[in-house]
Amino acid sequence: MAYRWTNTLTKADITPKAAYFNRRQILAGTVGLGAIGLAGGASAQGDLEPNTLEEITSYNNFYEFGTGKGDPAANAHQLQTSPWSIKVDGMVDNPGDYALDDLLAGLSVEDRIYRFRCVEAWSMVIPWNGIELADILNKVGVQSGAKYVAFETVVQPENMIGVQRRVLDFPYVEGLRLDEAMHPLSIMATGIYDEPIYNQNGAPIRLVVPWKYGFKSIKSIVRITLTDVEPPTSWNKANPREYGFYSNVNPTVDHPRWSQASERRIGGGLFAQRQDTLMFNGYPEVASLYEGQDLSVDI
Ligand code: MTE
Repeated sequence: MAYRWTNTLTKADITPKAAYFNRRQILAGTVGLGAIGLAGGASAQGDLEPNTLEEITSYNNFYEFGTGKGDPAANAHQLQTSPWSIKVDGMVDNPGDYALDDLLAGLSVEDRIYRFRCVEAWSMVIPWNGIELADILNKVGVQSGAKYVAFETVVQPENMIGVQRRVLDFPYVEGLRLDEAMHPLSIMATGIYDEPIYNQNGAPIRLVVPWKYGFKSIKSIVRITLTDVEPPTSWNKANPREYGFYSNVNPTVDHPRWSQASERRIGGGLFAQRQDTLMFNGYPEVASLYEGQDLSVDI
């Protein structure tokens, strides 16, 4: 598989769309070259050896299915994922209720191996398959004046034990600033290891924003809204002192109840020890999005 090692993204990745598409086409043709050929060099944090599918699908946070790490794997088979439609509304040229296949038709699915850092200070490396969020937003047509993208997770009370127990204020909601959403690292994942994404990981489609804490990566999305006001987010609503809107991975800003300087890598072997947490989770190419902001205030 020609998985792309995005810890080595260069300026070329954020240059004009046409050039970017060309590059993607080239990458798409490099099956067999493999990730190592594209990696260029090891990251500061060691290589990006992905976690196993077993690890990725058995240690989860998906509070609609319970708060224990094994609860989503045990309960998410109840999630009904077909048919699936996504409401696109707000400041867009083409609002509507889109069948998932129609929304994604014609858009290319990419392979991305990303670090995934939960705010609880554990981490994995996950080989996603997904569509760049920017491609979806460009397809529906973002109107000038839109500044944020809001997302909402499905609520199926009869299938979701956590919703019945009201462990959070559901639906789970999240949001990004428009420039964050348009960044080529932001994807809507539909698969892991070339298999359709498992229910416990957010089937049939979930957000992945690798430089932010995992809770920004909202699962099982049924609504995308373009807006000019900062949208509410679930963990900020639940505890505004502990969880901000931005939630960029930042080893220098501790959670009020624990350090964020290091993380426990899920999985055995070499990676069993704690490892240093990297600024923006090791994706420094996003730093320019936050120029002029104090990231110890805008948490
Ligand atoms: N999305 C919804 N709808 N509900 C959730 O409880 N948990 C978040 C995020 N997305 C969550 C969610 C948190 S805290 C994390 S760390 C990641 O999903 C976990 O993703 P994973 O289980 O695929 O590793």
